[in-house]
Amino acid sequence: MKKLETRADIEELVNKFYDKVGTDETIGFFFNDVAKVDWSQHLPKMYSFWETLLFGQISYKGNPMAVHFPINSKVALEKHHFAHWVKLWTQTIEENFTGEMAETAIYKATNIANLMGHKMEMARRL
Ligand code: HEM
Repeated sequence: MKKLETRADIEELVNKFYDKVGTDETIGFFFNDVAKVDWSQHLPKMYSFWETLLFGQISYKGNPMAVHFPINSKVALEKHHFAHWVKLWTQTIEENFTGEMAETAIYKATNIANLMGHKMEMARRL
């Protein structure tokens, strides 16, 4: 098991995670059917997002929260979906990486997912 320490490690992690997500019964349809995501665009964005969050290498400039609201308006993004997202993320990390940065990646994703789940729920009440 190796440490999570380079951009190449992040690319490997993100690719493996979205391999799981893309065929996942609980959340895969958001990407494939609801947002009809262009993976060739989405994956590089996610490499940069995680590089920025974990290594402070500011390669992502965007608003990660904003893109989820239109999806939530089409099909509710519920707390159990975020919990499942976190489960797949944690699994992918634990299968491939070890060390402090791997722990940080789980911790940060969990916090963002909780916040996102909350914001999506609030938006549905408006
Ligand atoms: C069930 C949970 C989630 C679903 C279904 C979901 C779905 C999506 C989809 C479909 C897109 C692409 C939007 C588009 O390009 O049209 C996207 C973008 C993105 N997601 Fe999520 N997401 C989830 C949770 C998360 C979480 C927990 C994070 C952060 C830890 C996250 C971070 C991002 C980022 C950074 C982008 C790119 C935003 C940009 O275009 O700048 N997502 N998500």
